[in-house]
Amino acid sequence: MNLILLGPPGSGKGTQAIRLQEADGLVQLSTGEMLRAAVASGSETGRLVGSIMEAGELVPDDIIVSMIDRRIDEPDCAGGFILDGFPRTLAQAEALDEMLARKARRLDAVIEIAVDDGALVERIAGRFSCAVCGAGYHRRFQPAAVEGVCDRCGATRFLQRPDDNEETVRTRLVAYHAQTEPLLPYYRARGILRSVDGMAGIDAVSTEIRAALGVSAA
Ligand code: AP5
Ligand code: MG
Repeated sequence: MNLILLGPPGSGKGTQAIRLQEADGLVQLSTGEMLRAAVASGSETGRLVGSIMEAGELVPDDIIVSMIDRRIDEPDCAGGFILDGFPRTLAQAEALDEMLARKARRLDAVIEIAVDDGALVERIAGRFSCAVCGAGYHRRFQPAAVEGVCDRCGATRFLQRPDDNEETVRTRLVAYHAQTEPLLPYYRARGILRSVDGMAGIDAVSTEIRAALGVSAA
């Protein structure tokens, strides 16, 4: 199964993609994570995109499209993938159509995680991740079982993303409404869009996504 998770910053795309990856063996393809890895490595792409991301703007389509085009060809994607944060513009959606046709693959579903703008700033301001294994947390909604210790690997160092501050979140939301929301009618017209209530708790959202996809409970 090949999916897109579509939703504003902080809507829970990454949280839900990881759950689907663990339960169903699909591979999470997060363009945000790929770009952050490029920035951390100091590569040419990383140098180009770092300041754009910190400002909360969208990275140019050609950089993103070629990154995804190459990644989908890797063997681990053969059994299915979850696109998390891609496509984000109509040009990216059209490029995805073209690349999937060329690779004789198809899109099975697009899941919109709908969340009110007002909830997103708290979601993002409270988010942090393990500095060692990358496991994601939220101060209020997804705390570690033992405060200050990663549930997954036991590390005690945590990080916040440089774009996770209130001012940048507002710019990211403007980009979402102006450039990404037009993808909803694009996929609705094809009959593959499903919307879930992202204001519900994390487990309830997972259940709703699984029901929308017609897969059994994890
Ligand atoms: P990216 O990394 O994709 O960021 P984003 O879309 O802004 O989304 P987030 O990762 O912030 O949120 P999420 O939906 O994954 O939420 P999460 O699950 O973490 O992109 C970053 C930047 O890279 C972009 O701004 C852009 O510059 C660039 N970029 C990336 N892709 C691009 C593209 N295709 N084109 C151009 N530029 C691109 O959840 C958030 C928090 O809330 C967590 O702490 C979580 O624990 C908590 N939470 C999750 N679900 C719930 C729930 N149901 N209830 C309560 N809390 C919840
Ligand atoms: Mg994310």
